[in-house]
Amino acid sequence: MYTLTLSTVALATLAAAGPLSQRAGYTVGPFATCSASDLAQTSCRNTTAIQNDCCIETRGGQLLQTQFWDYSPAKGPSASWTIHGLWPDRCDSSYEGYCDPSREVTGDEITEIIQDVGGHNLLRYMRRYWKDSSTVDGNLWSHEYNKHATCFSSGRPECYAGAYGTNPKKDVFDYFYRTTELFKGLDTYQVLKAGGVVPSTEKTYTLDQIQAAIKKAYGVTATVGCTKPDNTLSEMWYHFHVKGGNVYNGEYLPINGGTSFCNATGIRYPPKEKGDDN
Ligand SMILES: *[C@@H]1O[C@H](CO)[C@@H](O)[C@H](O)[C@H]1NC(C)=O
Ligand SMILES: *[C@@H]1O[C@H](CO)[C@@H](O)[C@H](O)[C@H]1NC(C)=O
Repeated sequence: MYTLTLSTVALATLAAAGPLSQRAGYTVGPFATCSASDLAQTSCRNTTAIQNDCCIETRGGQLLQTQFWDYSPAKGPSASWTIHGLWPDRCDSSYEGYCDPSREVTGDEITEIIQDVGGHNLLRYMRRYWKDSSTVDGNLWSHEYNKHATCFSSGRPECYAGAYGTNPKKDVFDYFYRTTELFKGLDTYQVLKAGGVVPSTEKTYTLDQIQAAIKKAYGVTATVGCTKPDNTLSEMWYHFHVKGGNVYNGEYLPINGGTSFCNATGIRYPPKEKGDDN
């Protein structure tokens, strides 16, 4: 009983906010050294000016891990949501995109960069869980990196330490690695299921039911997205501030989501017609 309680609590905390795991020998960085003063700060909650914006996110201090429920055509395993991206929003939830055209990459380049770092398991995971809604997954990967990752104040090439010179695209690897690691701790399918919200061709759900399930798992609400006009669940956005480090090595602190774009009642959650289960 004691062990069970302890591990449940530990898991819930780790899932959303834990330090970056380094499974499979992957690691982010190396990053340039940061001052103790900066490392004591949290994005959007800093109590003193940030000295080095490589150390604490100052441009988009609210981070969103966003997910899709693509049921038709079905994308990804039928018992899982899939990855949309990792986005930097400003503290007031406004945002910018495509901040550095000189760093933009294609899907093929992303694949090469990840392979060069030895990230075969990461690529395999991305091919299963980071799915473009139409055909070529690399199109979504490059869209997410080019639009969003180029807008972090931290994670820029000049934020890396010397070794960056031998791998000038390490931040590309770090973006995809960090995003998938966050996603692994945000299992929307299981969290909704635990709250009695399961895919159905007949039943509908209320926004309150969905938010109660999310809140029970993570202690905060999410931004819930539905397609119009049929009010069908389509997206889940998890919001965070980042403490004591940059977007790739800092600790993610869950915060409440913004205004959901679903009607409060009658939310549909159809099963994936035929998930990529095989
Ligand atoms: C937080 O950091 C930003 C960037 O350095 C700065 O503009 C702002 O004044 C800081 N906030 C506080 C309360 O010091
Ligand atoms: C959602 O709410 C709007 C505004 O009240 C309404 O016009 C629309 O019919 C609703 N859609 C569904 C699917 O319930």
